[in-house]
Amino acid sequence: MKHYTSINDIDNIDSWIEEAKALKLMPLKHIDLGKNKTLGLLFFNSSLRTRLSTQKAALNLGMNPIVMNVSGDAWGLEFEDGTVMNGNTAEHIKEAAAVVSQYCDIIAVRAFPTLTDKAKDESEQVLEAFKKYASVPIVNMESATGHPLQALTDAITISEFSKKKKPKVVLSWAPHIKALPHAVANSFTQAMQKMDVDFVITNPEGYNLSPEITKDTPIIHNQEEAFKDADFVYVKNWSSYEDYGKVVNKDPNWMITKEKLGDAKFMHCLPVRRNVIVEDAVLDSDSSIVIQQANNRTYAAQLALKKLLENL
Ligand code: CP
Repeated sequence: MKHYTSINDIDNIDSWIEEAKALKLMPLKHIDLGKNKTLGLLFFNSSLRTRLSTQKAALNLGMNPIVMNVSGDAWGLEFEDGTVMNGNTAEHIKEAAAVVSQYCDIIAVRAFPTLTDKAKDESEQVLEAFKKYASVPIVNMESATGHPLQALTDAITISEFSKKKKPKVVLSWAPHIKALPHAVANSFTQAMQKMDVDFVITNPEGYNLSPEITKDTPIIHNQEEAFKDADFVYVKNWSSYEDYGKVVNKDPNWMITKEKLGDAKFMHCLPVRRNVIVEDAVLDSDSSIVIQQANNRTYAAQLALKKLLENL
């Protein structure tokens, strides 16, 4: 594996899950693997879990993590070729990626979508530019269209908590006040398609994810019907894909309640807005596994870094 930028970089998700569980039992077993190796974490957007868990993962492997908030702290980066750079951008990604590659053995990047320019977002301009101009492996810490570290985490968590050979997993849209990216929902969908689970998506009309992501996964517009016999309910808001980046519905009836959840486990990537996405009674109950889920971020990142280090 050259980079970890998509859930499709995982060759066999079941073996990755087992390997991540083994790392969780003995997190320092490979402490010498990353000795004298540097992980650069570049953030174009805010983060709590990704930032800390990926640093923790690097430390568990003996790596030295260095972090930069690119937006604000670095020079404004130019991504277009042939631009006359007489505007707000002061440094081209060609130089920036080449320079950072001399300081780091692996570069991890977080860069969210515009949600105004679908073609630009789907081209993964920032992530692809790092892949093109950096000379070291790239890790996706959430890009315009995907969050593969989160999706691997989610797969590990479902495997840990599942009491059935083939659990029913529901991805449910829930209301939010802002327009949010599709990345988490996209990568979660791709991960579930690789696992032996009964997987359905439920969202209001107008909120279907890209058909290139959902493929033949059933999409049910009736949340109650979708939740029937669910073992895991994974909740996330996303903006419209059809009416790209728009909030076309804030229906509070799609908020997750204890009554709707039944016996299912509640999952969310966090951060979550209480009593908008999900009521307190769910988050404050044993049905919620969001804290255990967030803990697995470390082992998902550690596994991805370990595989890249082994290939250096
Ligand atoms: N789930 C997740 O990516 O969290 P952060 O945005 O806090 O990193």
